[in-house]
Amino acid sequence: MMSTILVTGASGQLGSEIRERSVRYSGYTFVFTDTGELDVTDAEATAVFIAELSPSWIINCAAYTAVDKAEDDEETATLINAGGVENIVNALMGSDCRLIHISTDYVFDGTSPVPYLENDIPSPDSAYGRSKLAGEKAAMGWPQTVIIRTSWLYSSYGNNFVKTILSKAGSLRSINVVFDQAGSPTYAADLASAILEIISGVIQNRYVFVPGIFNYSNEGVCSWYDLAREIVTAAGSECEVIPVRSSAYPSKVRRPAYSVLDKTRIRESYNLTIPHWRTSLNNCISKINRT
Ligand SMILES: NC(=O)c1ccc[n+]([C@@H]2O[C@H](COP(=O)([O-])OP(=O)(O)OC[C@H]3O[C@@H](n4cnc5c(N)ncnc54)[C@H](OP(=O)(O)O)[C@@H]3O)[C@@H](O)[C@H]2O)c1
Repeated sequence: MMSTILVTGASGQLGSEIRERSVRYSGYTFVFTDTGELDVTDAEATAVFIAELSPSWIINCAAYTAVDKAEDDEETATLINAGGVENIVNALMGSDCRLIHISTDYVFDGTSPVPYLENDIPSPDSAYGRSKLAGEKAAMGWPQTVIIRTSWLYSSYGNNFVKTILSKAGSLRSINVVFDQAGSPTYAADLASAILEIISGVIQNRYVFVPGIFNYSNEGVCSWYDLAREIVTAAGSECEVIPVRSSAYPSKVRRPAYSVLDKTRIRESYNLTIPHWRTSLNNCISKINRT
C-alpha cells in the first residue's frame, strides 16, 4: 500500500521546500495542509482529519515562528507550538503513524562553549523557546516521534534573514549586523531533503527508525555578520556590512549567543552528507536570482 505523508504548516519555508522536493517521490501520497485545511490548534478538527486520512507519517511544520511577537503573546505561541502538537499526538493514539516534529536551537540559552548535543538540558530564555520546548515535550508523548532541532532557517520562500539582507544590499550603502551571536544557518531545502531521505530510507528498510531528538543545520559556524557579508558578496553588492554588538539593538528577546548544534547523531544514523552553510547559501541565492 502507498504510504501517505501528511505535511502540516505546508505553506511556510520548510513545508514549501518539502512540497517542491516531494515530486521526486512518486511512490508516496503527499497531503499538504496549512491553517485553512488543518488548523492544528483545533483538537476536534485535527482528530477527524488525521483519522480520515490515516497517514503513515506526519511532518509537523506548523508553527508560530515570530520570535519577537511571541514575547508579547506567549499564549498564542504556546497554543500553536505546544497545543497544536498535543492535538496531533492525541489524534495518533491507536495508530502506527510516525511523527517528524521540528524544533529549534532556541530551546537552549546559548551559554554553552561547545556545540549542543541532543541530550543537553534545554533552558530557553525566550517565550518562543519555551513554547517550542513545551512542543517537544508534547511530541515525546507519542513513542514514534523524531524531533529535529534546527537553527537559522532560510529559504527562497517566505521572509528570512537572507532575503532581508539581499533586499537591503540592493538599496543601502551600509548595514549594521550583529557579530556577537554565533550559530549555523540552515537552508530549508537541505533540511527538507534530509527529512525525505529519512522517511524514504525507513520505508525502504535502508535505515532503522530511531525515535528521539536529532540536530540538523548546515555544516560550519558563523555570526550573523559573517552571514550578511557572504550574502552581500554573493549579490555582487558594494554595500558595507558593519559589525555591531547585540546591545546596539535593545530587544525583549534574549537570543542565544551561541547556538551551534552538534549533528553527529543525524549524520551517522541516516548516512547524511550535510552541505557547508556557504555552499547552501550560494545555492539559495542562485535560486532566488533565477525566480
Ligand atoms: N525560521 C527559523 O529561523 C527557524 C529556526 C529554527 C527552527 N525553526 C522551526 O522550523 C519549523 C519550520 O519553520 P518555518 O521557518 O518553515 O516556519 P514558517 O515559515 O513560519 O511556517 C510555519 C507555517 O505554519 C503555519 N501555521 C501557523 N499556525 C498554524 C496552525 N494553527 N495550524 C496549521 N498551520 C499553522 C503558518 O501559517 P501562517 O503563516 O498563516 O501563520 C506557516 O505556513 C518550525 O517548527 C520552526 O519553529 C524555524
